[in-house]
Amino acid sequence: MGKILILNGSPRAPHSNSKRYAGLFTKHCPVECTYANLTKRNHAELRSRMDDCSDLLLVFPLYADALPVGLLNFLKFLEANPPVRKPVVSVLINCGFLEYRQNETAVRMVRLFCRQNGYEFGSVLMLGGGEAILDTPFRFVAARKIGKLARAVAAGRRIELHATMPVTKRMFIWASTRYWVGYGAKFGVTKEQMQTPEIES
Ligand SMILES: Cc1cc2nc3c(=O)[nH]c(=O)nc-3n(C[C@H](O)[C@H](O)[C@H](O)COP(=O)(O)O)c2cc1C
Repeated sequence: MGKILILNGSPRAPHSNSKRYAGLFTKHCPVECTYANLTKRNHAELRSRMDDCSDLLLVFPLYADALPVGLLNFLKFLEANPPVRKPVVSVLINCGFLEYRQNETAVRMVRLFCRQNGYEFGSVLMLGGGEAILDTPFRFVAARKIGKLARAVAAGRRIELHATMPVTKRMFIWASTRYWVGYGAKFGVTKEQMQTPEIES
């Protein structure tokens, strides 16, 4: 029976949505899962943990239509230092925008990595509205698809899934603007301040 290494590629891994998605995956998965946060310093350790696993599940957020740089660096490390045994690579990606399709380029990047480096590509789940969905009444939409993904990866099946919140764009923009304006207010930051580049500093 296989074993799945779940790797959280979010730069804010300990407090991330990806961590919550990974938790749901583990809960629904019928085979043993082991979980790790990706850091700058644990590439070699993760590579050796891969030797012991049939599958690698990359759980990460979409960053600027692509992979977070920490995850890109880990893939570069694997190019130069391949594991003894290459696991099947699956993806659970989430993005902030409502449209799950925003994730497609990042998924293609992982597929390309697999093709160029001799890894089998497994299954994929693309989530839209990933910053919010778990704290809305639509949590079940994500949880149901994560369960489906977990069972497919465990059974060695290859499937492509997607989910997002069943709301209109207008409603999503209204609700998310309200949320972020309220969030900024908690820290004494106005909507106007958030709309300037100074928010970065
Ligand atoms: C630097 C940065 C870049 C982002 N780029 C995108 C993007 O291109 N498209 C998108 O839909 N969401 C984008 N997001 C939103 C994240 O994908 C979203 O908030 C996600 O839920 C974060 O997941 P995490 O908590 O697991 O890190 C970005 C967030 C950050 C901080």
